[in-house]
Amino acid sequence: MGDITFSSSKLGTKEYWDSTYKKELTNYQETKDIGEVWFGHNCVSRIVTWLKSNTLVDFTGSILDIGCGNGFLLLELASQGYKDLKGIDYSEDAINLAKSIAKDEKHDIKYEVVDVLTPHLSPSNHYDVCLDKGTFDAISLSPSETEVKKEIYVQNVHSFLKVGGIFILASCNWTEDEVKEQFKKGFLLLERIPTPTFTFGGVQGNRETILVLQKT
Ligand SMILES: C[S@@+](CC[C@H](N)C(=O)[O-])C[C@H]1O[C@@H](n2cnc3c(N)ncnc32)[C@H](O)[C@@H]1O
Repeated sequence: MGDITFSSSKLGTKEYWDSTYKKELTNYQETKDIGEVWFGHNCVSRIVTWLKSNTLVDFTGSILDIGCGNGFLLLELASQGYKDLKGIDYSEDAINLAKSIAKDEKHDIKYEVVDVLTPHLSPSNHYDVCLDKGTFDAISLSPSETEVKKEIYVQNVHSFLKVGGIFILASCNWTEDEVKEQFKKGFLLLERIPTPTFTFGGVQGNRETILVLQKT
């Protein structure tokens, strides 16, 4: 897969996410604050707007959010009328938090504790759409076997999707070219969802990259 790597970080460990969601779950139970929405509400709006404006997926399409955290992206999709929604995360308290919020907001969203890096995961369903907002980023920061993990990730996302299915990846670590390189086995880049740009040292960049890939 090439040698595109980052320094590891605690964000690449399950211990970090378990302790984060343990706190966020307690906080939610006490205050009803749903906690962090990674990359912010605008990123969620961009993904939802793209899906709504696209004819490839209708409101009955099956959608899987990989590393769903508190499930905010799925809640937004549910409130826009999407019906077949599921979130997976390897942190049990993330799933407990997501389930509590969905129940309180009266949305019918399925959640399950799943480690997306389980080798040869055989999904019970094949999805029209898979979403990832920050999960591939977190995996890329893993302190060990990062390249192997990224390869398993790409294979498993591929196996979750129907042929022609859509994978939307939001990343603040990877550029468009780097994503294309890492997902070149079995995916084609369909579109880049525009995000705000900045210029530094005469070079234009994006705070986050949101790419729409299609399973070939
Ligand atoms: C940056 S957070 C993003 C959470 C959520 N997608 C959001 O946008 O708010 C990364 C998420 O990936 C989850 N995650 C990391 N590695 C995972 C794995 N191997 N399997 C399933 N979930 C994982 C973490 O528990 C965490 O919820």
